[in-house]
Amino acid sequence: MAVIENSKVAIVGAGSVGTAIAYACLIRRSARTIALYDVNRPKVEAEVLDLQHGALFTGSSQIIGGADPSVVAGAHLVVITAGAKQDPGQTRIDLAGTNVRILEQMLPVLMQQAPNAVYMLVTNPCDVLTVAAQQITGLPDERVMASGTVLDTSRLRQLLAGRAGVAPHSVHADIVGEHGDTEFALWSQARIGPVPILDWVPSATAEDSRPFSHHELDDITDRVRNAAYAVIEGKGATNYAIGVSATRIIEAVLSDENAVLPVSIVHRGHHGIDGVALSLPSIVNAKGVARVLDVRMSAHEERQLQASAEALRKVQQDLGI
Ligand code: LAC
Repeated sequence: MAVIENSKVAIVGAGSVGTAIAYACLIRRSARTIALYDVNRPKVEAEVLDLQHGALFTGSSQIIGGADPSVVAGAHLVVITAGAKQDPGQTRIDLAGTNVRILEQMLPVLMQQAPNAVYMLVTNPCDVLTVAAQQITGLPDERVMASGTVLDTSRLRQLLAGRAGVAPHSVHADIVGEHGDTEFALWSQARIGPVPILDWVPSATAEDSRPFSHHELDDITDRVRNAAYAVIEGKGATNYAIGVSATRIIEAVLSDENAVLPVSIVHRGHHGIDGVALSLPSIVNAKGVARVLDVRMSAHEERQLQASAEALRKVQQDLGI
């Protein structure tokens, strides 16, 4: 990725996710300036030094950071990773109240430094926090998004690619809805290359030469839906995959790419969903989410989308947002 002239991304939170995003941006040369902000001064200053020390082997991005919010000034994109993280046994929704309160404190300070930026929520529950962030900042919907199911979509395509014996880039399938327990796959639109998923016939030499069955697709959806729990159980958090997933979105914004990605945004009537943020394939560019695509869904998928929206609406009602 060529470094985009004078582009600046500010990452709020120097924890395992924020630093993974910073490192991915550095390695992929995603921005001219990468700023890391955290109230924990010793931590953020050490993370910045550690990122700077590899300069001989990484791109020419300038890495800055500190505990003063002025490091965020002038950012084109502000990525929020700060907040309570999911512990083993917790769902993402369990973090909602705590992290909304953190946003209420933090966003006014960030808006003073970067009033014209696009904001991206990575902190969970990212969909509910997107609704809260849009209300707190008053920014246009398009400029307040969440990483949503971009990561889940990567997990889905990785599983399908392995089963089909093709590269992940050749799998076209999306996870949509909540970034959480009600997410689901758009199987009706899923393809491997130009081949609809249920028509795919693996080569005779493939490890598993059976075609996909509906049962297997349901099993794959379950594995994606529960992927984070397995990682959190083993290492306490997820960070690398969300790091590169968020960086992919950062690149779409900073390079004004018009990339189609399943990011989360507050919907105002799409599929009858109003005032709830969830992921649908959307066009992402320097303005943020320029357009949510009209995706044809099966009746079953439409029901799953409505169920996802209803689950998120209930959390919002409990929080009064
Ligand atoms: C995960 C976290 C980022 O899905 O929610 O890994």
